[in-house]
Amino acid sequence: MGLSHPSLARPVSLSTIAIVGNGNLTWHFSRVLGGRCVVAGHRREDDSGDKSPVPYAQLSNYPLEAVFLAVPDNEIAAASQQLRGILQPHIPIFHTSGATPADRISGYFQHRGVLWPIRSLRRGEAVSHWRDLPLVIYASTEPGATYLRRLAAELSDTVTWLDDLQRAQLHLAAVFSNNFVTALYDIAYQLCDAKDIPFELLLPIIRHTAHSQDGRRPAVRQTGAAVRGDTATMERHLSLLQRPEYRQLYRDISRLIFEYRLPKDDPDLRRDANDDLEDKGIA
Ligand SMILES: NC(=O)c1ccc[n+]([C@@H]2O[C@H](COP(=O)([O-])OP(=O)(O)OC[C@H]3O[C@@H](n4cnc5c(N)ncnc54)[C@H](OP(=O)(O)O)[C@@H]3O)[C@@H](O)[C@H]2O)c1
Repeated sequence: MGLSHPSLARPVSLSTIAIVGNGNLTWHFSRVLGGRCVVAGHRREDDSGDKSPVPYAQLSNYPLEAVFLAVPDNEIAAASQQLRGILQPHIPIFHTSGATPADRISGYFQHRGVLWPIRSLRRGEAVSHWRDLPLVIYASTEPGATYLRRLAAELSDTVTWLDDLQRAQLHLAAVFSNNFVTALYDIAYQLCDAKDIPFELLLPIIRHTAHSQDGRRPAVRQTGAAVRGDTATMERHLSLLQRPEYRQLYRDISRLIFEYRLPKDDPDLRRDANDDLEDKGIA
C-alpha cells in the first residue's frame, strides 16, 4: 500500500481517529497514525514533551471515524462509560488489550472491538518496522469488523482475527514466551553478576535460540542436561544455586523438559520418566 512508518502518508483527512489515554501505546499509535489522530485524556498535564491530550468534551468537535481506548485494562470500562453521551453510539470503539473481552467496553456503543499489537511497547522506543508487528483484531459487528480489517491492513502485514477466548489464550501464551523468559534471563543475569561474569557472553546463545524458533513445537529443539536426563550435571547445578526458590524453579522446569521430550501419547513412558527423576531427587 506504500504506507510506511513513522506516519501513514495520507492526504488531509476528513475524519479523525481518537486515541484515549496518553501512555505507551498512545505514543506508538499516534506516531504510526500521524496527523489523522487526536489524543484525548482524562488529565491535561503531560510532562513528556508531547502535545497535551484534548479533554473528552472536545472530541465532539472532531469528525471521528473511530476511537481507540489505550488505557490500563482495568480502566477500559470506566473510560468508555465516560465517553457515553459525548460520542455518538454508532462510532466504532476499540480497546487494545490482549486479555480483556471486547464487551468490557460500554454497551452504549454499537460497534465494539479490539486491536491488540503482539509486542511490548514502551514510550520512546520506536517500532522500526510496523508492518512486521502482528496485530490481533476482533469486532462485535460486521461494520466494526470491516473498519478494523481495513485499518489493521494499513498498519501490518500480519493481521489475525481471534475471538475473546482465543485472544486471552494467546495473551497467556505470550506471558510464557515473553515475560517468563525475560524473568529467566534475569536469573541468568544475577548468576553471572554474582561471579563477575559478563552477562553479554550469553547474548549470542539467547539470540540464537530465539531466532531458531521456526513455528514447530519448541520442545523438538530442546538441548541440555534436563532433556538428556543427565542427573549428575543437574545435581551440580542445584548445588550452585543459593536461593531455594531458584532451586525449586530449576527442578520444576527440568522435570517439564524431561517430560516433554517423551512421546505425548505414551502415559506409561511419561510416568516412568517422572519416577526416574524423583528417584534421583531431581523432580
Ligand atoms: N504497552 C504495551 O506493551 C502494550 C502492548 C499491547 C497492548 N497494550 C494495551 O494497551 C493499553 C494501554 O497500555 P499502556 O502500556 O499504554 O498503558 P500506560 O502506559 O499505563 O498508559 C495508560 C494511559 O491511560 C490513562 N488512563 C488511566 N485511566 C484512565 C481512564 N479511566 N480514562 C482515561 N485515561 C486513563 C493513563 O493516564 P494517567 O497516567 O494520567 O492516569 C495513561 O495515560 C492496555 O490495555 C494494554 O493492555 C499495551
